[in-house]
Amino acid sequence: MMETDSLNLKDILDWYVWAGVDETVGEEPFGLTSSSDSVLEKRPLPVLKTSDKPVIESEERKATTELAQATVNACKGAQDICAQAKSVEELRALVEAFEGCALKLTANKTVFGGGNPQADIMLIGEAPGADEDRMGVPFVGRSGHLLGKILLAAGFHRDDVYITNVLPWRPPGNRTPTTAEVAVCLPFLKRQIELVRPKVIVLLGGSAANALLDNEEPISKLRGKWLDYPLEDKSIVPALATFHPAYLLRNTAQKSKIWNDFLRLKKKMAA
Ligand code: URA
Repeated sequence: MMETDSLNLKDILDWYVWAGVDETVGEEPFGLTSSSDSVLEKRPLPVLKTSDKPVIESEERKATTELAQATVNACKGAQDICAQAKSVEELRALVEAFEGCALKLTANKTVFGGGNPQADIMLIGEAPGADEDRMGVPFVGRSGHLLGKILLAAGFHRDDVYITNVLPWRPPGNRTPTTAEVAVCLPFLKRQIELVRPKVIVLLGGSAANALLDNEEPISKLRGKWLDYPLEDKSIVPALATFHPAYLLRNTAQKSKIWNDFLRLKKKMAA
C-alpha cells in the first residue's frame, strides 16, 4: 500500500468520485504523495455567495465573450481542417491532431469513425463510452454488441456499414456534451458524411438526430420517420432516426420500435 502521510485514501477516492472520475487508467498512481502537489490542495475553491464577492459585471462579460470567442475559433479550426481532408483517412489523421476541443484532454483515445468508408449505410451515435475510449473504436461496448446483433438480424454486417459519432472524444463520466463541444465537433461528422456519401443515414438517439438535423425535437417524435439531410451540393440523404441501443438496454420494452425502424431501413435498401 502506498505511503500517503497525512492524506487519507478514502478522502482521495471521494474527491476523485466527486470530480467525476469513474474509472482508473494505468497501473501506477501518481501525484498523491508530494505535499506541494497534493490533490487535496487542488480541491476547487468553495463557491462564494453573492454577498461575499462583489460582482464585477464587465469581468464576467469579458469571460463569457472570451469563452464564446474560443468556441468560435475552435469551430473555425475544425472547419479549416475539414476542408483540407480529401479522404476519410486524411480526416482521421487531422482530427487526431486537432487540439481545439477540451474533451481530448480527458479522453484516452480519439474515436474516429470505423467500418466501410464506401458503405451505403452510415450509423451515427452520440459519443464514445468507456470501452470505445479505451479501444479507440466506435460502438465496441455493450451498446455496440447490441447494435451488431440488430444489424445482423436486419441482414447487414457491421463491417459493411460505416459507424461514427457526433463527438470523437468521450465526455468525462459519459456526461451530456455541451452545445459548444457539439458545435466544435460537428464539422468532423459533416465532413465524414460528405466523404462517405452514404445512401442512407441512421441516427442513433436524440443527441445525434438533434445535432445533425439541427432541431430540438425529442427522439420519441423523430424516430421511425425518413428525414432529409442535405449535402453541400444540395442533394438529399434520407436519414432515419431511431432509439440509441443504450436506451434499449435500459428499456427492453421498446425493442419492437427499434426493430420496426431497422425493417424500414431494410426495405429502403432493397428498393
Ligand atoms: N454510444 C455511442 O453513442 N457511441 C459509441 O461509440 C458507443 C456508445
